[in-house]
Amino acid sequence: MAFLSIFKLIFFSTVMPILVTISLQQEQPVLNLAEQDSVYQVLSSINSAIPWRTLFPDDLCSYPPHGVVCDYFTDPTTNNVTVHITELSFGYVSDYAPNPPCSPNSTFSPLLFNSFKHLRKLFFYQCFIESQVYVPEIPTTFGSSLEELVFINNPAFVGPLSGIIRNFTSLRRLVLTGNGIYGSIPDGIGDLVNVEEITLSRNKLSGQVSVNFSELKKLKVLDLSGNDVDGNVPCSVGNLTQLLKLDLSSNGFSGKIPESLSNLQGLEFLDLSFNRFGNFGIPLFFAEMPRLKEVYLSGNLLGGEIPEIWEKLGGILGIGFSGMGLVGGIPASMGVHLTNLCYLVLDNNNLEGKVPEEFGFLEFVSEINLENNNLSGRVPFSAKFTAKVGEKLRLKGNPELCVDEKLSHGKSIHGSFGELKKCSKPDIPNPVLFIGGSYSGLLSSSFHVLFLFWGFLMVLF
Ligand SMILES: *[C@@H]1O[C@H](CO)[C@@H](O)[C@H](O)[C@H]1NC(C)=O
Ligand SMILES: *[C@@H]1O[C@H](CO)[C@@H](O)[C@H](O)[C@H]1NC(C)=O
Ligand SMILES: *[C@@H]1O[C@H](CO)[C@@H](O)[C@H](O)[C@H]1NC(C)=O
Ligand SMILES: *[C@@H]1O[C@H](CO)[C@@H](O)[C@H](O)[C@H]1NC(C)=O
Ligand SMILES: *[C@@H]1O[C@H](CO)[C@@H](O)[C@H](O)[C@H]1NC(C)=O
Ligand SMILES: *[C@@H]1O[C@H](CO)[C@@H](O)[C@H](O)[C@H]1NC(C)=O
Repeated sequence: MAFLSIFKLIFFSTVMPILVTISLQQEQPVLNLAEQDSVYQVLSSINSAIPWRTLFPDDLCSYPPHGVVCDYFTDPTTNNVTVHITELSFGYVSDYAPNPPCSPNSTFSPLLFNSFKHLRKLFFYQCFIESQVYVPEIPTTFGSSLEELVFINNPAFVGPLSGIIRNFTSLRRLVLTGNGIYGSIPDGIGDLVNVEEITLSRNKLSGQVSVNFSELKKLKVLDLSGNDVDGNVPCSVGNLTQLLKLDLSSNGFSGKIPESLSNLQGLEFLDLSFNRFGNFGIPLFFAEMPRLKEVYLSGNLLGGEIPEIWEKLGGILGIGFSGMGLVGGIPASMGVHLTNLCYLVLDNNNLEGKVPEEFGFLEFVSEINLENNNLSGRVPFSAKFTAKVGEKLRLKGNPELCVDEKLSHGKSIHGSFGELKKCSKPDIPNPVLFIGGSYSGLLSSSFHVLFLFWGFLMVLF
């Protein structure tokens, strides 16, 4: 195994670059010896079982191991060209990214934060897994050129987040996920003016968020999920006008979901599930967030009825509203407008009334869960629909819901479905309701035809 990875290292890193660099070599500057020596020391702190100096004895910028990247820098006054380390990636990812493999006793060399003034990317994947490694002393001057800081799945990497965040004015990606990082989220995060992604998921962060996000004009992804952060969501999250994804799930956020989120006009993914947001109902401002594709609020007792906010939200693919203390009926308008819906989960609420017939026309649905509510009447799905959705159509725990004899005999009926009682009377629908139902079905399909036709015209002209 070790031999194999060493072989791969040699092959990928030594043979290939020789072919490419021979012609360039003469006029290119080489890495200075101090920086080269720092690379060796950092590599052996990661994995001392590999004889790095023996395997890579030559200029590391010409013949580097995978994961070590250099770039050229020209002094504007002297035109003197130098070469420096710009990327260091550790932890075997795949055969396409065979970074130096980490050993069970990987540590940080302090040189990592002192020796590479031109570092743009620092990446650790599954390096600190067994023996605990504390966040090293990072100088306040570290990282002025850093663009990506990535630590993925290093559970034994522990220490406060404030010990890591420095004056990273060039930082574009801050991805620290699945580590043992704790403490509160430092206000200095709000000064990372070039940052496009902040992912701090699956750590042990806690405390309230007092960060002012209003200057992070480029932020597209904010993911704090799977921590223990509490208090209110700062209103300044609403100043992140470029945001595409906001994931605050599985924390202790409370209070009201801030109205300022309505400013996030490009937002596609919103996950606030499993927090402690209060009894303020489902926010009505979702109605004016037309780019939404996925909205998850499960596990917050927001209460109230499902509002009629769906008219402009036809792009929605997924809705997760379980265990929210919702009451009242399921609006038929969800079935009418959310024509792209794939995933609809409304289980463990107190919803009552009928399952809207319109749900039976949702062509892309792969999961509907309405379990443990107080729904009643006839299940409106056709045999074809039930067969397609299969076990992902979950309806049990609604004692007043019944299923037609012909459906319950179909071989598509699975456990959860089979427990529903059979409808006693033959289906004699209220004629007015019935016409209403098929009319809207008709309407939406003729809309489809029109839409397709219009699209066709657009292509032609
Ligand atoms: C270029 O810079 C290097 C390193 O700073 C130095 O050793 C070298 O003398 C310089 N060359 C010229 C032509 O200035
Ligand atoms: C890590 O463990 C290896 C044996 O598995 C040992 O040879 C090496 O000295 C250790 N390195 C450090 C930095 O403790
Ligand atoms: C952060 O770095 C920028 C440029 O790299 C500098 O202008 C600024 O003064 C630094 N701020 C602090 C607090 O060190
Ligand atoms: C956030 O910072 C902006 C200026 O950068 C300021 O106008 C605003 O008042 C601050 N918000 C809070 C809540 O401190
Ligand atoms: C942040 O958003 C609020 C409105 O929610 C606005 O009044 C304020 O000017 C914004 N601040 C910045 C710095 O963009
Ligand atoms: C369920 O709905 C029925 C009316 O359909 C009502 O009488 C009953 O109290 C409801 N049960 C619960 C637990 O809300």
